[in-house]
Amino acid sequence: MAVRKNQANLSDEEKKNFVDAVVKLKHQGQYDEFVTTHNAFIMSDTDEGERTGHRSPSFLPWHRRFLIQFEQALQSVNPSVMLPYWDWTVDNAADSPLWSDDFLGGDGQGSDSRVTSGPFAFNGGSWALNVRVDGRTFLRRALGRGGEELPTQADVDSVLAAATYDAPPWNSESEGFRNSLEGWRGANLHNRVHVWVGGNMATGASPNDPVFWLHHCFIDKLWADWQSMHPESGYLPDTATPNVVSLRDPMKPWNDVTPQDVLDHTKFYTYQ
Ligand code: CU
Ligand code: CU
Repeated sequence: MAVRKNQANLSDEEKKNFVDAVVKLKHQGQYDEFVTTHNAFIMSDTDEGERTGHRSPSFLPWHRRFLIQFEQALQSVNPSVMLPYWDWTVDNAADSPLWSDDFLGGDGQGSDSRVTSGPFAFNGGSWALNVRVDGRTFLRRALGRGGEELPTQADVDSVLAAATYDAPPWNSESEGFRNSLEGWRGANLHNRVHVWVGGNMATGASPNDPVFWLHHCFIDKLWADWQSMHPESGYLPDTATPNVVSLRDPMKPWNDVTPQDVLDHTKFYTYQ
């Protein structure tokens, strides 16, 4: 069974294999398709209208399916590569090893927050941004300078304690586990990590920064942790509901997958 590990426990070779596979997908053009898909859903997901990727119950199954597809693309390059996760409650500083030049590279520099070191630095020649929300073609980060702190373990525990998956009105106003994990209410685990990294991660084209995958892998793990803590609490809504994806509805853009199909992550991978 495929095992996803904490990035802090990857060997030098595992880090290199991950980075090399990401860069290869970029050169092949597949990487940018993931950025395009993500940005399209950020643009179309609204609190009052149709919402699939964000601010809705299917935030978690949608990103789970999105990550599985990306992981399969990585494995088409190197079958040994798995998505690692970033536990930002522990590796919570701008100088954490995650940001070293043999892995994701460093913080942004100067007034334009340009990443200048590591495999995704623009001047390295491998990482020009093609799908973007402004004219800048270089990766940007502003670690910890966006006005948000990273969530703590106490924040995580408070979110995992929620007994209900989600609730009406099934958007960014909802009470429940999904919305406090996504971050529109309560302790806010997901949204503020995007803000903490800053730069491209604070935009709809956030997958331009490869840390996107490690962040969402941890969010996905927290969903799995919550499921094992609350075995009686299932995905909601489980009956047809306007504008949102209920348990057995197909999810765009794939249409061949429902939330129910991905509730059990152990069909695809496990977490270590
Ligand atoms: Cu997203
Ligand atoms: Cu996100």
